[in-house]
Amino acid sequence: MNYIGSKHSLLGFIEEVIMNVTAPLLSRSQKEDNTPITFCDIFAGTSAVGRAFKQKGYNIIANDLQYYSYVIAKHYIQNNQAPEFSRLRAKGVARPFEFLDTLGSEKGFVYRNYSLGGTTSQEFQRLYFSDENAMKIDAIRQKIEVWKVSSLINEAEYFYLLASLLETADRVANTVSIYEAFLKKIKPAADRPLLFEPIKITKGLEGLKHQVYNQDANSLIHQISGHILYLDPPYNTRKYNTNYHILETIALYDDPEIKGKTGMRTDQSKKSKYSARRQAAATLTDLIKNANFPYIFLSYNDEGIITLDEIESIMSKYGEYQRFEQKHRRFKADSHRDYAKEYTIEYIHCLRRDDL
Ligand SMILES: C[S@@+](CC[C@H](N)C(=O)[O-])C[C@H]1O[C@@H](n2cnc3c(N)ncnc32)[C@H](O)[C@@H]1O
Repeated sequence: MNYIGSKHSLLGFIEEVIMNVTAPLLSRSQKEDNTPITFCDIFAGTSAVGRAFKQKGYNIIANDLQYYSYVIAKHYIQNNQAPEFSRLRAKGVARPFEFLDTLGSEKGFVYRNYSLGGTTSQEFQRLYFSDENAMKIDAIRQKIEVWKVSSLINEAEYFYLLASLLETADRVANTVSIYEAFLKKIKPAADRPLLFEPIKITKGLEGLKHQVYNQDANSLIHQISGHILYLDPPYNTRKYNTNYHILETIALYDDPEIKGKTGMRTDQSKKSKYSARRQAAATLTDLIKNANFPYIFLSYNDEGIITLDEIESIMSKYGEYQRFEQKHRRFKADSHRDYAKEYTIEYIHCLRRDDL
């Protein structure tokens, strides 16, 4: 998924820095009892970073404030193999993905609010999806819920199907990656029929009990502990709850109240303090202060709300601080903006707490 702030293309840099800085931790764990290292990705987004460390055999804690991101993490982090769908099979549904892909159409919430056909007689016409794809998303989403409510699928199966729907629907959205606006004309990729197919499985060490949460990072931090805490908060005022509002609605399918040209959810309770100029630094300070993790890493770039000096001063209060940097090409959906620079500098700020 093309996601604002995704670290997919920076994984090499992030893994290298974290592995080098935490080398003493790894050698201790190998020498002593071989207990797995707990890595927390507390602003998980697409789960790109958590997945990379899961593949290394680490025990993962993943979290995000947005429900769509939680759904994605429930699948990528907690599912270690493709679920069997045994109850569905017993009912004659041998291939659930094919079954849902050929299910047909429903004029549900997505069609009625985010397609041209569904909005023609409304105050605002919206073209986020072709009529056919919107109806297909509704049909699949509703059937997944029916299967869950009638206990025909278990939790692992539910999140596998739902995460697959979020990713395959996102591929046919008529946007430039974010849902703050739709294109006036349908683009070729959005005109193609949605292909509902299984997304990847990320294999980790057998037997680990990865944890996935859907909470504010600053409140979750009081309930968890581990070895490595990776922080990747929003760094500017662009908000995830508005940029990805349709993914949130497909994930929750909660018939929300929506408004305006873009059909945004009116509920603004998931606004992040990290995107607010006046609150970001204090919120980061609070998070680091309460973190029960000896190693803390923060990804942030040179255009973030909190300055480099502020971050250094916040982190170095708690122990040994160092910083690494890499040049990075700007996020695609920002290209229409009037920025002079094509590149940003991505920093990884590291803290080895001296009190833990
Ligand atoms: C920069 S993105 C993370 C990207 C992620 N590392 C990836 O590679 O996809 C920031 C994420 O933080 C989440 N977020 C914002 N405020 C939060 C908060 N207070 N608690 C938890 N998550 C939050 C957003 O929903 C968003 O997914």
